[in-house]
Amino acid sequence: MALQLRVYVPPHPLIRHWLAVSRDVGTPSALFRTAMTELGRWLTYEAIREWMPTLETQVQTPLAECPATLIDPNVPMVMVPILRAGLGLLDGAQTMLPLASIYHLGIVRNEETLQPSFYLNKLPDRLDPKAHILILDTMLATGGTLTAALNELVNRGADLSLTRVVSVVAAAPALQSLSEQFPALTVYTATIDEGLNQNGYIVPGLGDAGDRSFGT
Ligand code: URA
Repeated sequence: MALQLRVYVPPHPLIRHWLAVSRDVGTPSALFRTAMTELGRWLTYEAIREWMPTLETQVQTPLAECPATLIDPNVPMVMVPILRAGLGLLDGAQTMLPLASIYHLGIVRNEETLQPSFYLNKLPDRLDPKAHILILDTMLATGGTLTAALNELVNRGADLSLTRVVSVVAAAPALQSLSEQFPALTVYTATIDEGLNQNGYIVPGLGDAGDRSFGT
């Protein structure tokens, strides 16, 4: 069977609540950052279900030995926040994956062409092919930034079937483009919005997630 992009919108009231707070134009920057942290936490919680590498073992309770499941420390877990806005999701995501290695990517969109370019790339030359990778990319508008990030990861040996994306708002054009280019990928997002305006902003979206996070 041909692979197909999987997109999940977890029906969790906390995700809906913090999405509403982040969308509201009246939300001040400090509360917006809280919303991003909480969305990072709960979307990561959902995204790592059936993704986290585990191992089956036995533990001795005070009363008896019993079967147990532990997180497998031998499989590398990696998080890739896409700056600037992805930094907002990182604190919450890290509470779920405290042992993950974090490789920052700074990617900026040209305001006119909407083409992405890198200003920071902390990825190692080679990734372990078994690495479980979680990309934090807050706004999937055209998908251009995420495409650039995924190409970098694939060039370094990433297995996209072990790669998940956490985003807050995903627009239909981004999902269409990702499904054509990266059918092995899985995306977790708080919402799917219809489209983009002429400046490449998602509508209704939540505005510029980087500016709102950092008060710029
Ligand atoms: N990046 C943002 O921060 N907001 C959008 O709507 C699109 C891209």
